[in-house]
Amino acid sequence: MDYKDLATAAGNAKRHSHSPYSKFRVGAALLTKDGRIFTGCNIENSSYGLTICAERVALFKAVSEGETSFRAIAIASDEDAYTPPCGACRQIIYELAGDIDILLTKTSGRYRVYKMLEFLPHPFGSKNLKNVRHKKK
Ligand code: THU
Repeated sequence: MDYKDLATAAGNAKRHSHSPYSKFRVGAALLTKDGRIFTGCNIENSSYGLTICAERVALFKAVSEGETSFRAIAIASDEDAYTPPCGACRQIIYELAGDIDILLTKTSGRYRVYKMLEFLPHPFGSKNLKNVRHKKK
């Protein structure tokens, strides 16, 4: 599948980044299985730990609107280098979207496609909780 439009959407999503502290803008674009795109950007806070990453904003927007099936998420920053998802986002992407495609993009428009489990091998998930019925994503 050609993910060019998804990569472009992640780049555009950076525009709304609120990042006065790090000055590191991040955009994310999440593709649902039925072809919808939800975008997100990082939103920082003067109480630094309250910052939320672009990936989580995109995922929470989608989940809060009833989406449950995802195909891929693209991540963009202003660096002409690939920006991988942080550890917290890896856990949350895996929880809500499972082993989806992860697109790392560069400002040049180039991108690379990985699988989520390459970033989070041997994940902790609902399958590890004995009393919870495990739903495969
Ligand atoms: N950030 C993201 O939005 N996503 C990532 O995957 C890496 C980090 C944000 C958090 C913070 O606002 C800034 O980038 C610098 O860490």
